[in-house]
Amino acid sequence: MSSHACDVLVVGGGVIGLTAAWRALEAGASVVVLDPSPGDGATHAAAGMLAPVMEAGFGEEAQARLGTASLALWPAFAEALERAAGLPAGAVGLETAGTLALAYDGDDLVELRRTLALHRELGLASAEITPAEARRREPGVGARVAGAAWVPGDHQVDPRAVHAALAAAAARATLVPRAAVSLTWADGAVVGALDGTGTTYTAGTVVLAAGHASASLYAGAPTRAVPGTTLRLDAAADRSPAVVVRGTVQGRPVYAVPRRVRPDGRRELVVGATSDERDDDHLTRAGDVFALLRDVRALLPELDDAVLLEAVTRSRPASPDNAPLLGWAADGLCLATGHYRNGILLTPLTAAAVDEALGGALSGANGRPEVRAAVEAAARYADPRRFADADTTAPRTAPTTERGGTA
Ligand code: GLY
Repeated sequence: MSSHACDVLVVGGGVIGLTAAWRALEAGASVVVLDPSPGDGATHAAAGMLAPVMEAGFGEEAQARLGTASLALWPAFAEALERAAGLPAGAVGLETAGTLALAYDGDDLVELRRTLALHRELGLASAEITPAEARRREPGVGARVAGAAWVPGDHQVDPRAVHAALAAAAARATLVPRAAVSLTWADGAVVGALDGTGTTYTAGTVVLAAGHASASLYAGAPTRAVPGTTLRLDAAADRSPAVVVRGTVQGRPVYAVPRRVRPDGRRELVVGATSDERDDDHLTRAGDVFALLRDVRALLPELDDAVLLEAVTRSRPASPDNAPLLGWAADGLCLATGHYRNGILLTPLTAAAVDEALGGALSGANGRPEVRAAVEAAARYADPRRFADADTTAPRTAPTTERGGTA
């Protein structure tokens, strides 16, 4: 049995965990990251929509406020990350071209109009347009589409590129390819973690960023798995949308997120996503692939010609109220989990919350008004202590999964 000591131990190496690791390194800490398969949780399936407007749900004002605050941070976050990773500007694929929302039939249009009314209530920008206008923006929109809206403020970034950049930016951290099986406690404070081989890790601060598996390590992080399947297609640029397209087809949501056109005139599109309340198993159901392809081709028929590259199923980490858990939960324990459908959107806000928790070591950046607004939104809507009624002190048994999904 061996042991490691560090200033900050990050449990989970997805986009959220590596963001915490990068921020801790920037604050001058020594950092260990524990993850058996970094980036193979929710990060691996994420489409990368930055969509505080279209993801705003009825009764979920907190998520809309958090998402809007985080979106404002994305351009500066992407720039700082690309610089820290030694990558050229634009490498993480941030695109700010807006989103086209489509309704397949009359009932879907009724639903879309209800959503647009909610946007007005929340002060979020969106406007109904005609199907003809939608086709002028995106010529591949299907002839049967009943209605549309333009959402100027919902964007996208490439989650796998973000994860690769974070891995480079956090390269000075020690990555241990194992899963944490429990946190270790002393005098009511978290002082480290234990892995499956019996190796102990002691740390001044533990950042728990293990996605849906966080609950198995700390009861005060009551996360659950919400598996979703996304598909990767390879399509000709002139037979695929240039902006994010999302819609409903007879009540079923579907989206297509186009990446930049490559020199060969083709592009990758991420099509998603199913959403199930079941255990995390990474198994892709044939019926889910069928339904996603059926629905996306109802909106964008030209995608019939695309090549199917991948079908991936991973679990979103959801909290009981679907808002994330960010910040101090106990002495020595900072949470960065529960991001549900918005892990990539909320990554810069998570970075700001981690910076704040680690003592404002980056007070220069954290003094910017949009960063202050994000930190205040996190404190107001994402304080993990809202679940303090859970039995938080008892060490938990080993998680049932080896994987920590994030984002
Ligand atoms: N953010 C989209 C999804 O979770 O499917």
